[in-house]
Amino acid sequence: MARIFSGIQPSGELHIGNYLGAVKNWVALQHTAESIFCIVDYHAIIAAYEPAQLRIRRHEMALGLLAAGIDPTVSTLFVQSDVPEHTELAWIFNTVTPLGELERQTQFKDKSQRMESVSAGLLNYPILQAADILLYRADRVPVGEDQLQHLELSRVIARRWNAEFAADEAYFPEPQPVLTPTRRIMGLDGQSKMSKSMGNTIGLLETREAIWAKLRPAVTDPKRIKKTDPGTPEVCNIYHLHKAFSPPETVEHVAVQCSTAGWGCIDCKKVLAESMETELVPIRSRAAALREDPARVQSALDAGADKCRALARETIRGVRERMGFDG
Ligand code: AMP
Ligand code: TRP
Repeated sequence: MARIFSGIQPSGELHIGNYLGAVKNWVALQHTAESIFCIVDYHAIIAAYEPAQLRIRRHEMALGLLAAGIDPTVSTLFVQSDVPEHTELAWIFNTVTPLGELERQTQFKDKSQRMESVSAGLLNYPILQAADILLYRADRVPVGEDQLQHLELSRVIARRWNAEFAADEAYFPEPQPVLTPTRRIMGLDGQSKMSKSMGNTIGLLETREAIWAKLRPAVTDPKRIKKTDPGTPEVCNIYHLHKAFSPPETVEHVAVQCSTAGWGCIDCKKVLAESMETELVPIRSRAAALREDPARVQSALDAGADKCRALARETIRGVRERMGFDG
């Protein structure tokens, strides 16, 4: 049976970018294959952070994922640092990863340019990611478009380790990405990818009023200055959000109204806000129930960690044996 694995950083909040690009797919795919989802807290400590905040964000992320529809009776949800084998395998993979491959990663290049001091952790980040995936010998990894290069590197690492230590058995399968139709959601600025670090997000659990306060001034088609100017839906971020949240008839109607200047951008945004409400209300209410019962979140994570520790131990046993550490 195919195994799905994916991870998310405990950045504190799910936003509609990581929800539409990845998590919504996790929720759908969990019923089609054995699924393991990981809150990657060791990835989150690469830049300076506050330990007390990390604790809160880990819990918030778990709560958000359960509210979004991850069902802990169907799939496995756990915290990376609860399973020490992730870092053990990452060290091993360090030794078979060419430095040039790491230096070529666009995320490393972008982030290292923006940072004053660059830790070795930032460079080695994709090795830990490869360890996350390969530790469970997962074959499919649902992610957003920005992770494709990291996944390619995971395949390179699997191939190199297999060639070196398990020549005729492909011990590690080469993991393939699974994308959603909304593989890259832009931020409200319409300029860069929606991400917490850019401050251009809409949180999945935000109230209707808070969402409207952000949608109202959000960037649309930059060429549409007056309400009477016809717009070009394809270049408008709001239109792309309609495609993600509104039913097909509405999307078609929006395109016509925009390109004929039938609606102004605010009219269009009001309809989007309604479509978002339809999808987000049940998520918000599950989140509220989970907030009343934090033990439920923790027990899902504990059960997930128990299960993953057993799987991870088994993989590492095979790795150590093939690398000459045991016996
Ligand atoms: P992160 O929140 O950065 O840990 O990302 C978690 C998952 O969401 C990864 O699979 C990312 O590729 C995906 N993701 C994050 N931001 C976006 C975005 N703006 N558009 C599409 N996918 C995204
Ligand atoms: N690097 C991913 C991100 O920032 C998070 C991640 C860590 C991940 N380990 C993973 C994603 C394993 C998929 C599989 O979004």
